[in-house]
Amino acid sequence: MGYQDASGRRLSYGSYLHVPELLGLQAGLTQAHDELLFIVVHQAYELWFKVVIHELEAVRGAIDSDDLRAARHYLNRVKVIEALLVEQVGVLETMAPQDFLTFRSELAPASGFQSAQFREIEFLSGLKDAGYIKALDGEPHARARLQRRLEEPSLLDVFTGLLDRRGVTITNLYRHGDRDPDLLELAEALLDHDEGFRLWRLRHVQMVERQIGDKPGTGGSTGVRYLQSTLGKRFFPELWEVRSQL
Ligand code: HEM
Repeated sequence: MGYQDASGRRLSYGSYLHVPELLGLQAGLTQAHDELLFIVVHQAYELWFKVVIHELEAVRGAIDSDDLRAARHYLNRVKVIEALLVEQVGVLETMAPQDFLTFRSELAPASGFQSAQFREIEFLSGLKDAGYIKALDGEPHARARLQRRLEEPSLLDVFTGLLDRRGVTITNLYRHGDRDPDLLELAEALLDHDEGFRLWRLRHVQMVERQIGDKPGTGGSTGVRYLQSTLGKRFFPELWEVRSQL
């Protein structure tokens, strides 16, 4: 018999995955040929962000309960997804800047700057900045989610807690890694996540420069210059700094 969907029909590929609903969500604002690509790429990012958040929550829980194997397992998945997110920028880069201009003005003032899930990943990882909640003024639900992320522990918090429980400092961990190999591997897996996200920032700003040059963003920022100012952001600054102390 198998499973049935909500309306009692036998489950199918389309009903299980809600394909008709999913394919009904790409109505654009214009007839521009490239707008479909633009929408699908952004939606695909949001879906992957959803998975990344889900995995990072599992990582946080695992670190908190000292299950470092599970934490590394989920972090490894995050790393592979992040590589895909970096790669995906290339798809949007096939859009010619002249073609983007045929629909770009319609998008303002919407901007990736308002991606609530992107901020959730930042907050959940340890990069909390309440200032970004303002960008979501018109979206009470997203605002509330972000506010909750601001208040709950981040990966940085639970990792710091774990080191404290084990009585280890980051410098000692790296100087004497053979004493706590599981901790050291976890630290490197966290750094992979940090690096994966930084690579996305780099790739995104490069693509943005190719698309709009030095023009301001649809979200009202200085555009490339604003994005360049974010490139130094790190989830786990101490894991980068310890390199110079070895
Ligand atoms: C033609 C393609 C794109 C252009 C020209 C572009 C441009 C920009 C610009 C100029 C900003 C700065 C904020 C502003 O003033 O709007 C920005 C921010 C952002 N964009 Fe894009 N973007 C593009 C594609 C994407 C895609 C595919 C994503 C995937 C989710 C994305 C996610 C973001 C995010 C998350 C931010 C905020 C970054 C931060 O504040 O650190 N963008 N984008």
